[in-house]
Amino acid sequence: MRQHTRANGIRRKAGRESPYGRSESGERVGSERESAEPISYEPISYLGMRPAPFASLPSAMCPAPLPCHTGYMSTSHTIPIAVSARNLSKTYAGESPVQALRDISIDFERGKFTAIMGPSGSGKSTLLHTLATLDAPDPGEQTSVQVKGVELTGLKDAALAEFRARNIGFIFQAFNLIPTLTAAQNMELPLGLAKMAVDTIWRDELVRTLGLEDRLKHLPSQLSGGQQQRVAIARALLPRPAVIFADEPTGALDSATSAEVLGLLQQASREQGQTILMVTHDPLAASYADRVLLLKDGQLAGGLEAPTQASVLSALARLGD
Ligand SMILES: Nc1ncnc2c1ncn2[C@@H]1O[C@H](COP(=O)(O)OP(=O)(O)O)[C@@H](O)[C@H]1O
Ligand SMILES: [Mg+2]
Repeated sequence: MRQHTRANGIRRKAGRESPYGRSESGERVGSERESAEPISYEPISYLGMRPAPFASLPSAMCPAPLPCHTGYMSTSHTIPIAVSARNLSKTYAGESPVQALRDISIDFERGKFTAIMGPSGSGKSTLLHTLATLDAPDPGEQTSVQVKGVELTGLKDAALAEFRARNIGFIFQAFNLIPTLTAAQNMELPLGLAKMAVDTIWRDELVRTLGLEDRLKHLPSQLSGGQQQRVAIARALLPRPAVIFADEPTGALDSATSAEVLGLLQQASREQGQTILMVTHDPLAASYADRVLLLKDGQLAGGLEAPTQASVLSALARLGD
């Protein structure tokens, strides 16, 4: 049996369809969106930006270097592309420069939960950071990063920050909580910055599911690593962003809490159409995803659909050969 059925173990309130934002009466409460309609992926004009044409290119026009049939890039356009990169490279400058990403082209469909795996130093965190626009890729004429069809390369910091606040949740490997804010304040900070209302029912659900009820008034320094990670997860999930980037989100968690978190991510993708990109080194965590992408030496090195723990383990073993 697939491991992700464990997501059914998520605690749910009676009478609710899912932990994703309907009140007992079935109404969405305090959310930016009025209804539980799937997230819109209509081409949008954001801050005056025009959506670039990539998402609607016929597959025959998919740019090199990877052939479209590898599955790295979309061949059909019935499912909208939530995140797309073309010719993405990243070099860390310095005395001995490191090329962390080498010419990566890839699509992530809306509502898909992808696990990204590979050896330490293979570029997983760098890929997540550049796709989430937290770090700039090497400049290049063909280089493109799009989220929800909006071309993000070359945008100014303020426009990027606003786009991220409204569309992207990021769970950092090192948590990145604000040390002077309590757990509750940290959780609600992105919503405050985006001037969005807090969905208190969803917040309370997250707090309960993540076991943070007794820790809301604590500062990060008063929390264990696992508790800080759970606050960071709640912070990313609370605004229900269209895309969630998670860098080893279960690295500091015990197995029961890991299962809860992975179940939350799985439900976010299946029930809300949120797109999840999760870096993990754990085959069990990866088995919750719809597909696994393998990275090696800053390049895509294969992938798996409908991964199981066993298929992930053997793919990782082949990668090491
Ligand atoms: N800020 C940085 N400055 C210089 N090199 C870096 C920096 N961040 C990462 N690297 C290097 O880039 C490569 C990829 O790193 P990273 O993306 O963190 O890999 P992973 O997440 O797969 O472990 C590694 O060789 C790492 O040492
Ligand atoms: Mg990393």
